[in-house]
Amino acid sequence: MTTIDIHTTIGELVAERPSRSRVFQHLGIDFCCGGKKPLADACRDKGLDAQTVLQMLLAGEQAAGSQDVDAAKLSLTALCDHIEQTHHAYLKQELPRLEPMIAKVAAVHGDRYPWMRDVAAVFGPFMQELSSHMMKEEQVLFPMIRAMEAGETQAACHCGGTIANPVRMMEFEHDDAGEALRRMRELTDGYTPPVDACNTFRATLDALHELEQDMHQHVHKENNVLFPRALALEAEQRQPA
Ligand SMILES: [Fe+2]
Ligand SMILES: [Fe+2]
Repeated sequence: MTTIDIHTTIGELVAERPSRSRVFQHLGIDFCCGGKKPLADACRDKGLDAQTVLQMLLAGEQAAGSQDVDAAKLSLTALCDHIEQTHHAYLKQELPRLEPMIAKVAAVHGDRYPWMRDVAAVFGPFMQELSSHMMKEEQVLFPMIRAMEAGETQAACHCGGTIANPVRMMEFEHDDAGEALRRMRELTDGYTPPVDACNTFRATLDALHELEQDMHQHVHKENNVLFPRALALEAEQRQPA
C-alpha cells in the first residue's frame, strides 16, 4: 500500500480503500466529483484540520474491512458488471419509486414547506438525465471497455477511435448529477425532516439521503477507478509493440 498524507487526493484515498468513503461521507467531503482535490484542500474548504482527518482515516483502517467491493481489485469487465448490477439496478428501482413520493409530499405539504416543491423541480430532470446517462454507459461505454479488455481493439473504435470522448461526457454528466444532489441537500437542510413531518415526508427524505450516498459510491467507482484504469489500458494498447 502506498503512503498516504494530506497531499494525497480524495479520489486516490478512496480508490485505494473504499471504506475511507465512510469517513468522508460523515464529514460531508465530496469524494466522487470532488475526488481530484488533495485531502489538505478538501479539509480547508470544509474548515477541518487535515491532520485530524488523516488520523481518522488511519484509525478507521484498524477496524474491520469494508463490506463494499474493492473496485480496484476487479477486472474492468467485472467492475462494469458490478456497477450495472448494484448501482444501476438500485437507481432503476429507486428513481421511479421516489418520484411520486416527492410529488406527493410537495403537493400535500408544499404550502407550509415550499422547499419541497423546489426539491420536486430538481428531482424530475435529475431522474430523466440519470436514466439516459445509465443507458449510455450500458449501451456504449461499458461495452467498449469490456471489448477493449478482451483485446477486441476494433470494438473500441466506434467513437473517434478513443474512449476519452465518452468518458469525458460521462464525467460532465456526473458533475451535473452531483450538482442536483448538492442542491437537494441544501434545500432539505441535509435531509432533515420538519419536527411535525408525517411518515411519508420522513421516508422520502430518508430515501433521498440514501440515494445520495449510493450515487457518491457509484460515481466514485466510475470517475476514480473505472475511467482512469480504462484510459490507461487504452494508452497501453496503443503503444507500438
Ligand atoms: Fe453508472
Ligand atoms: Fe456514470
